[in-house]
Amino acid sequence: MNESLRQLRQEGDINFSAARQDWYEQLDTPTREWLSRDAAVFLHQSLSTPCLNMIESCEGIYLTDTNGKQYMDFHGNSVHQVGYRNPYVLEKLREQLEHLPFSPRRYTNKTAVELAEKLVSLLPASLSRVLFAPGGTSAVGMALKLARRITGKQKVVSIQGSFHGASLDAIAVGGEEQFRKYMGQLFPETLFLPQTDTYRNGVAQEIQLIRQLDELLSRHADIGAFIAETIRNTDVQIPSTAYWQQVREICDKHGVLLILDEIPIAFGRTGPLFAFEEYGIEPDILCLGKGLGAGVFPMAAIVTKEEYNIAGDISLGHYTHEKTPLGAAAAMAMIDYTINHQLADKVKADEQFLRQELSLLKEEFALVGDTRGKGLLWAVELVRDPVTKERALDEAEAVMYHCLQQGLSFKVSQGNVLQLCPPLIITREQLKKAILIIRQAFISLDVQ
Ligand SMILES: Cc1ncc(COP(=O)(O)O)c(C=O)c1O
Repeated sequence: MNESLRQLRQEGDINFSAARQDWYEQLDTPTREWLSRDAAVFLHQSLSTPCLNMIESCEGIYLTDTNGKQYMDFHGNSVHQVGYRNPYVLEKLREQLEHLPFSPRRYTNKTAVELAEKLVSLLPASLSRVLFAPGGTSAVGMALKLARRITGKQKVVSIQGSFHGASLDAIAVGGEEQFRKYMGQLFPETLFLPQTDTYRNGVAQEIQLIRQLDELLSRHADIGAFIAETIRNTDVQIPSTAYWQQVREICDKHGVLLILDEIPIAFGRTGPLFAFEEYGIEPDILCLGKGLGAGVFPMAAIVTKEEYNIAGDISLGHYTHEKTPLGAAAAMAMIDYTINHQLADKVKADEQFLRQELSLLKEEFALVGDTRGKGLLWAVELVRDPVTKERALDEAEAVMYHCLQQGLSFKVSQGNVLQLCPPLIITREQLKKAILIIRQAFISLDVQ
């Protein structure tokens, strides 16, 4: 029972629990009416309907609901690195709107070209070819198509329980049951390596995984690519440098492409602009998205090597909003803002602060089994017993709703992992306030 509930909660907190019902009951009547209208008109799907609340505006690190209540947004679907309605981003978008909001296919435009050049200039010299897409899932789809075209091979290795998007091609290489259930045959076989869990399995698991990957690639000559997140976003799994360097070596040895999905974590979330930089490796294809659109526009991209620019006779993406000037303006503004405001340095300093503050929480509350993170991406993993490490599912949910009441919004992954992912522009005072809210949630729930 516990395990199946956890699987349901792998991607996020569920919306049919008793705690969700209690939360729903305390909302005011007009808000509940809007939620009912939402539920009456939208096609239902898990994790979306019924919704948590109705929001009216956003600014900086805050979402504001229809009653004017503000929530520090420590989730933001990983799009809000430079904060909501960032004035610099909005100014650039207004300028773009005035003269070229859309660029039909077959034409190019200055903003899109400049963004592609900018991305390439920030990446290692080997990554020099760009293709845009209107969302991360589409970028993953393009990466998979390109990998097939390059290698002539169709099979892919992925990580169990990983998420690379919700479409049929993306779920074929993603392992979350929530997305695969009822879907029948997925093209062609994906070979899955077990999910990493550093808290439970330590580096021993990494050594095992590396061996498994090598064996898998030795046994199956028809594998073309290995796809993985450089750092797993949902429950914050941070591989060692040795792990990534060996994976890179193994892929090279077998002529298998390494596709890194940095859709939720690029552009400073974990410190550097691109997470792989700190591992001293380079991917063959890099997938970007989410924050690329500066919290305004759906914008994603793949970046790959010059030698892989060989698909000129087929369509890899061909999306209507491919070279979107508006999306490119948002992305360009996000990148400029991130660099000009030295957010990478700030994030590193915030990382030290959070490491210290969260480890204090761990010392104080037995419920906190593990805290781990990089930059401004952190996990606080709650367990019933620090020895058995049994996941504290109900407790995590209770903490989440308590924090929501106090104006702090975040997601719970794997059923028991509080995932903390604030905008990178957050001030130290705001961070302190958030930690205080979490601490008070632990105290008020009497969980020491
Ligand atoms: C790791 C990862 N890859 C791909 C995607 C898909 O991106 P999108 O929702 O923009 O299609 C997501 C979205 O959550 C993601 O977290």
